[in-house]
Amino acid sequence: MSARITSITGRQVWDSRGRPTVEAEVALQSGAVGRAIAPAGASRGVHEAVDLRDGGKRLAGLGVDRAVAGIGQEIAPALLGMDARDQRDVDRVLCQVDGTPNKARLGANAIVAVSMAVLQAAAADAHEPLWRYLAGDRTVRIPLPEIQIFGGGAHAGRRTDVQDFMIMCPGADSFRTALEITHDVYREAGRLMEANGPLAGVADEGGWWPGFKSNEDALDTLARAIDRSGHKDVYISLDIAANEFGDESGYAMALDGRRLSGAEMAERMIGWTKRYPILSLEDPAGQDDWTTMASVTRAIGTRVQVVGDDVLVTNAGRVTEAAGRDVCNAALIKVNQVGTVSEAKAALDAAAARGWGTIVSARSGETEDVTIAHLAVGWDAGQFKVGSFTRSERMAKWNEILRIEEAMGSRAVFAGASAFAPGIRKSLT
Ligand code: PGA
Ligand code: ZN
Repeated sequence: MSARITSITGRQVWDSRGRPTVEAEVALQSGAVGRAIAPAGASRGVHEAVDLRDGGKRLAGLGVDRAVAGIGQEIAPALLGMDARDQRDVDRVLCQVDGTPNKARLGANAIVAVSMAVLQAAAADAHEPLWRYLAGDRTVRIPLPEIQIFGGGAHAGRRTDVQDFMIMCPGADSFRTALEITHDVYREAGRLMEANGPLAGVADEGGWWPGFKSNEDALDTLARAIDRSGHKDVYISLDIAANEFGDESGYAMALDGRRLSGAEMAERMIGWTKRYPILSLEDPAGQDDWTTMASVTRAIGTRVQVVGDDVLVTNAGRVTEAAGRDVCNAALIKVNQVGTVSEAKAALDAAAARGWGTIVSARSGETEDVTIAHLAVGWDAGQFKVGSFTRSERMAKWNEILRIEEAMGSRAVFAGASAFAPGIRKSLT
């Protein structure tokens, strides 16, 4: 019985924002089946691979009929008969069939679902959990989680300019402990917000809805929540997602009523890292403002992780170019940002080869699909970012890592501080 692909089916399912998305199902000659669902971002960079949506009035233009049709009419015929274990060949054919530089013709939503479903089918064929199929004989670490406490930016009606207010616990002895600490901080943050008025629900990734007077008010509240939890060695991590409020003329921080030049933005970010226990800072500048990003990295990069998301868009070429200019010291890895499993792995490898931190990440529009939890472990990424500590599309991923940690037993190694680039690692110990 072989791992040859015998059928590929696409279908429309729904994501955590109640929007249509694409699921792919791949069957092999051996009877093994793999399934995966495309996630969707809200704060997207212009250099990302793009989803194919139907447009028009139906489903607010977000329908995926064309993407699903492309799987049946073009992707399936091209991949049938290929060996699911040859992921790189499969992904190469996916890129060729699409034929555009950004997957616009068949859609990154269709392509990523198929690419991940092929990977799932190959692991099922090997009768191995996906993380172990990917790891092979290598020792891999359980990743350090980066977990959101308040959601903001494009995920919360722009109530704050900063998108993600998160925590990281590099001093925890296990993933399990890191989640218990997160539970306590999340709860304390909720209590503090309740004291200021009625709680107003949660943002797109499950973090508390941000009712703050300023971005710094949110930072103060998070620092207090950490303090009140009683846990030590808990750090703040921010995704500024500056792309969302920046352009060539500068950065408009609406909540603070301020317009900042690139230099002022850098100064502000550096200032925050001095006033608050910030360990990681994502996209402190816009996707093409490498000058500002590099000046932040130059100033704080030996003690703070500076992460490229919209700046790098999981593109190995951009990672290499950014590394040459010391733009950041860590890369966010989102498979759907580039479109295929192999291209995402290449971006991760390019970042790791330069000693950068690597963070496998979910999108703001997610589903019950937990493939990325296995990528985070199997690729030994060291860090994992999924959103907050509520809502099952988020918790499903955290819970999957707990299962993997348990399955590894005494062989489980929690990444902790080892997840960071060498300088930062040293400053933590
Ligand atoms: P997105 O946000 O999935 O909405 O793009 C996540 C992030 O910016 O990290
Ligand atoms: Zn981001």
